Amino acid sequence: MSNTTYRNNGSFKYKHLSELQKDIEELRLDIKVSNNIDLFKKKIYIDNFTIPNSIASLPMEGGDSSKNGSPTELTYRKYERIARGGSGLIWLEAVSISKEGRSNDKQLWLTEENWTEFKKLNDLIKTSAKEEFGEDYKPITIIQLNHSGRYCKVNGKSSPIIATHKKLLDDRLGISEDHPVVTDDYLRSLEDDFLKSAKLAKKAGFDGVDIKACHGYLLSELLSAYEREGEYGGKFENRIKLLTNVIDKIRADIDCEGLLIGTRLNLYDAVPYPQGWGVSKSGGMDVDLQEPKALIKILEEKGVKLISLTMGNPYFVPHINKPYDIGNYTPDENAIISCNRLINEVGNIQKTFPNMNFVGVGYSWFRSLAPYVGAGSLENGLCNIVGFGREGIAYPDFAKDILNHGEMISNKACISCSKCSEMKSKIGTCGCVIRDNKVYLPIYKKM
Ligand SMILES: Cc1cc2nc3c(=O)[nH]c(=O)nc-3n(C[C@H](O)[C@H](O)[C@H](O)COP(=O)(O)O)c2cc1C
Ligand code: SF4
Repeated sequence: MSNTTYRNNGSFKYKHLSELQKDIEELRLDIKVSNNIDLFKKKIYIDNFTIPNSIASLPMEGGDSSKNGSPTELTYRKYERIARGGSGLIWLEAVSISKEGRSNDKQLWLTEENWTEFKKLNDLIKTSAKEEFGEDYKPITIIQLNHSGRYCKVNGKSSPIIATHKKLLDDRLGISEDHPVVTDDYLRSLEDDFLKSAKLAKKAGFDGVDIKACHGYLLSELLSAYEREGEYGGKFENRIKLLTNVIDKIRADIDCEGLLIGTRLNLYDAVPYPQGWGVSKSGGMDVDLQEPKALIKILEEKGVKLISLTMGNPYFVPHINKPYDIGNYTPDENAIISCNRLINEVGNIQKTFPNMNFVGVGYSWFRSLAPYVGAGSLENGLCNIVGFGREGIAYPDFAKDILNHGEMISNKACISCSKCSEMKSKIGTCGCVIRDNKVYLPIYKKM
């Protein structure tokens, strides 16, 4: 890998659905397509909540908070655009549960002091959606609670908090062999920090919380802490303990009554065993869903009904996580293969747990053909809700266009150029440099 910006050989090249279908056949992919775009109009019922359609706007960390973690004008602007865009499920970006757990000094951080600012954000989402789609229209809002673990940055400096050493990832970050691993007491204290944040999220009016366990952050790292000693490492029951304890505590707390509890969960880290989760234990990089499935079964028994699935680690293998045409290295597979993995493995899980509502991922790369791919997934039971990440910042009206006009407009769609990711990694603040260029191109240029 190198830092030069490369163009992926398998860049998006399709003008018509038939061309994509031909490649799906020739490459023997599992991606399904359908013209039945009305499938996105299906409402999803979870407990007392109704998601008004089957489209989710996935979390996109914007790094635009004030010093104390509150939303700023850029944050409000982004979510107002997304709310007016029509996604039935609005899954907000990573919000830190603690000061030291922030991914950078501009990451949102929910506290006793600023929860009313988050209430303002949630109210803005709800009222904007109502103004746009009518009095009865209510998107469901989920706030993603996170501890950034090895990707914490404080005062502009990398300040990794690690649960276990993982040589491949440590080397990438310059973490030395003697860097301390957090204690069990510290991890135990996080259970209450997550609970505290969930209570604040409830007070702020969010419909639900996501206990984030993906993309290599702390709870995700713990899932594969095979080599950690003590109560949060080693055997499966220990590695999933922080996630499941947090869920139990939120479920049992009277102040959180009625809160939807979900998680954004990695299915596959694409980091070899014993450093990665969802990876074959017999060597190599094959997907092995035995442990992720065992965890999801437990989550289902605990009453979790909504899970957003994902893969990879944006700091290590971004092509697995968000297939791209242009990025800072050339992956050893074409983007369509990465999309196929995401769509197919989520499908495998949705079929195994038919009563769980899984949000799928891997669609933005398909640009204006994404509605057909998403409809194919819905038609074939590969997910209950189709999730879009980058489209939310490139083309916030994508959901409205799918639902009202049965299409997405190609010159409004994300072109998977990775400029937003580049901004996120360099300065924290990010947005779509291409389609929202009035706001983000000047910031990009200045960077
Ligand atoms: C700039 C940027 C910020 C992101 N922030 C988050 C985040 O806060 N939480 C999260 O779970 N995923 C985050 N993601 C991942 C997206 O939610 C999504 O999984 C990924 O972009 C793939 O979906 P897509 O192909 O529709 O974009 C981010 C991705 C990008 C490019
Ligand atoms: S900068 Fe815009 S077009 Fe480029 S990947 Fe990000 S969202 Fe897509």
